[in-house]
Amino acid sequence: MDALPEHERARIASAVTGRDRAALILAPPSSDEQSAIDVLAARRLDGEPLQYLEGTAQFGPLEVSVDSRVLVPRPETEQVWEQAVFSLADAGPGTTIVDLGTGSGVLALGLKHAFPTARVIGVDISEDALDVARSNGDRLGLDVEWLHGDLFEPLPDRLMERIDLLVSNPPYVSEFEWERLPPDVRDHEPRGALVSGPDGTEVLTRIADDGFWWLGIGGWLVCEIGETQGPAVLDLFGAFDRDVRPDLAGRDRILVARKGASCCR
Ligand SMILES: C[S@@+](CC[C@H](N)C(=O)[O-])C[C@H]1O[C@@H](n2cnc3c(N)ncnc32)[C@H](O)[C@@H]1O
Repeated sequence: MDALPEHERARIASAVTGRDRAALILAPPSSDEQSAIDVLAARRLDGEPLQYLEGTAQFGPLEVSVDSRVLVPRPETEQVWEQAVFSLADAGPGTTIVDLGTGSGVLALGLKHAFPTARVIGVDISEDALDVARSNGDRLGLDVEWLHGDLFEPLPDRLMERIDLLVSNPPYVSEFEWERLPPDVRDHEPRGALVSGPDGTEVLTRIADDGFWWLGIGGWLVCEIGETQGPAVLDLFGAFDRDVRPDLAGRDRILVARKGASCCR
């Protein structure tokens, strides 16, 4: 990046001063504030995601806090959330929703926001990520249960064959692809949030194999996938009725699967 675009500099200035663009014209940054803005602008020029510098990211109707402990939520994940809300359609106190690899908590929090009486559980293998998710839940007043561990391992046994909706934006990048990601992503976002293994489908394979047993009959599974993974994922999730849906750019990015009932709305 050669020079910082004006709109990014303005966002950094607002994050530092707490004043919006109009207020900054009337009351320009003090010299201390300007020094802090310059430091963050230099970090941005060095490739750090703008959302880490601002400390926040928008996800659907929610604003969450983010930092380098978690992936910056992406627009395609908002589509995963929209698809999950659409597929489940309705939920009450007896409904259980699980978000595997919750990161900043966006999918779990977005689903609790959409279905306030449902039980929503967010799982992550990273304690650091769960700290971010937990504080987002507290600040937003959304009562999600946060569990630490490896995919399904921390879930209580009594949920076996009882989950109504499983969502995940799992790591699905191969080690080879990781080396070729833009430096902004590779140098600043957590590797463990992105890389699944040599092939890229390792975590998706585990979700396919174990997810089938954790879902109740008619339960939904909505998952983000890499744009070239559609055919492999349809194969991996062969035990489900399933479909792969495009994102807004027309790339195959969303798996919608259902256990033992005709798929897929
Ligand atoms: C692609 S990020 C998604 C974060 C968030 N759901 C989002 O969409 O912004 C994947 C998350 O999965 C977590 N993760 C990776 N492997 C995991 C595993 N085996 N079990 C649980 N969580 C895992 C990472 O720590 C990371 O937070």
